[in-house]
Amino acid sequence: MTRVITFGTFDVFHIGHVNMLVRAAEMGDHLTVGVSSDALNFSKKGRYPVYREEHRMAIVKSLACVDEVFVEESLELKGQYIKDHAADVLVMGDDWAGKFDHWGDLCEVVYLPRTAEVSTTDIIQSIREDLN
Ligand code: CTP
Repeated sequence: MTRVITFGTFDVFHIGHVNMLVRAAEMGDHLTVGVSSDALNFSKKGRYPVYREEHRMAIVKSLACVDEVFVEESLELKGQYIKDHAADVLVMGDDWAGKFDHWGDLCEVVYLPRTAEVSTTDIIQSIREDLN
């Protein structure tokens, strides 16, 4: 049994998120998703997600390809999360290419290509522009 783990915010859930999670699930038999906390997002991006963490977790958990979700509280805890969830493969979008190679001693590290031309930031921006 191959256990896969991936991480993300998954705010304003969109097709790029679906594609990533479906492909991550296809890399093994069990998919665990670390959904980053509201506080972690604030510390990374200086703004809170549009959807709060309980809702982002519930949306991700509802997908047929996802077996388990947990809150990612800190970027520094990735190694601990990989061990806690006994992950064999860490899957990340290629926007992170190379940034997680050092976890290669704990598990296989795979970067998958992002879906072109969609991102939460762009969706929020286009809604803002439409409202103005
Ligand atoms: N992702 C993807 N294709 C996209 C957008 C996201 O494959 N077009 C992947 C990311 O690489 C990541 C996961 O989905 O593995 C969660 O991404 P997240 O950062 O939550 O979404 P973004 O839309 O990239 O958000 P933002 O614009 O705020 O950075």
